[in-house]
Amino acid sequence: METHDVIILGAGAAGLFCAGQAGQRGLRVAVLEKADAPGKKILISGGGRCNFTNLGAGPGNYLSANPHFAKSALARYTPADFIALVDQYGIAWHEKTLGQLFCDGSAKQIVAMLIEECPKDRVTLSCDANVIGVVRAGDGMFTVSVTDGRVWRAPALVIATGGPSIPKMGASDFAYGLARQFGLKVVEPRPALVPLTLGGEDALFRELSGVAAPVLARAGSGKNTAAFAEAALFTHRGLSGPAILQISSYWRHGEEVGVTFLPDAATDWLLAAKRDRPRTHMRTLLREALPARLADALADRIGLDRELGNIGDKDLRDAQARLADWRFAPNGTEGLAKAEVTAGGIATAELSSRTMEANKVPGLYAIGEAVDVTGWLGGYNFQWAWASGFACAEALAAAHAKGETRQP
Ligand code: FDA
Repeated sequence: METHDVIILGAGAAGLFCAGQAGQRGLRVAVLEKADAPGKKILISGGGRCNFTNLGAGPGNYLSANPHFAKSALARYTPADFIALVDQYGIAWHEKTLGQLFCDGSAKQIVAMLIEECPKDRVTLSCDANVIGVVRAGDGMFTVSVTDGRVWRAPALVIATGGPSIPKMGASDFAYGLARQFGLKVVEPRPALVPLTLGGEDALFRELSGVAAPVLARAGSGKNTAAFAEAALFTHRGLSGPAILQISSYWRHGEEVGVTFLPDAATDWLLAAKRDRPRTHMRTLLREALPARLADALADRIGLDRELGNIGDKDLRDAQARLADWRFAPNGTEGLAKAEVTAGGIATAELSSRTMEANKVPGLYAIGEAVDVTGWLGGYNFQWAWASGFACAEALAAAHAKGETRQP
């Protein structure tokens, strides 16, 4: 049996970063990871180059039952802080688009940096340590056991086992079961940043598989709505591409999504075209502005396939309106197998937004994707992992200084 000041479950982005920060503050930390190596999701992230933060990351870029929850942590560890760390390690990076920062080289550099950040004499990383049981004894100590029978003890425990998206990588809902075991509520988990599937009438659009176009995509209802101007991609199952992945986090079963094709077109562009080029066919006009296969599919559905001069103004206005708000009724998503993240998770109402500690279970903390805080596509989820890990490490150090995490 090994005894430490804190046990961190999961050596992903949040767990590794928190371990380094806690170790640097003098705590003796055990990190338990079920995979044979740490940071596997980091390694595959950003197409192998890890989109490690976003210059514009702020609370407005996250979904949560409590949109205010992430404010404190995000303000205390910012993208600039993480960039300074990356620079300190001489890791070259670039902004790809929309504030998204990627390594020039490889995501391996980020994992190596996070490991290097863990002081060797204070942080012990154990891989192949699949945690199966956690109990808390009367003396306040957490006892953690793994499949091969090894056992660790500590007065503080951090849940950093992420969410269940991409189960083939070993991702699971372990965090939720553990949270419930300690009486914490879990907000219904659901796949997010995930392709949407089309059926019924919309299924015909699947014939456009491989076609991409810039769009403005909208989803959600009430306060929970969002619109993203990026590319959409038709797939053999439905819709994907950055604009669709973004709105998928806001979409709920049974709702429609709205897509504006030609988002930069002027309001009365079809009427203007009728005036300027009355002999042009609707289909030709659409083909000039959109990929041919998409233009044909839209022209077929609009059904005004004749010269613009022979189409009434009302019909043109209706066509404009339809192109500006094309309604799709997705019949589902591609599920956790294809979801970049899981939305929902350990309820923020159960945690302190300053420390990530469970309100009713002192000594128990939760960070990263396990918590009901879900970022947009574009480096926001890693920024949450760093920021929540940092807030937790600071709190662990403060509790340790007060003697609260010292072993009895
Ligand atoms: P994470 O999943 O990283 O780590 C959890 C760890 O806990 C894992 O190592 C797991 O093996 C371990 N674990 C689970 N159960 C356990 C148990 N019972 N015992 C012991 N260990 C256990 N985000 C972003 O900002 N930029 C990007 O470029 C990308 N790209 C990207 C690509 C792909 C393909 C995916 C799937 C995801 C992304 N993301 C992303 C999202 C990002 O990877 C994710 O939000 C963070 O990795 C979450 O960090 P966590 O540490 O919370 O969980």
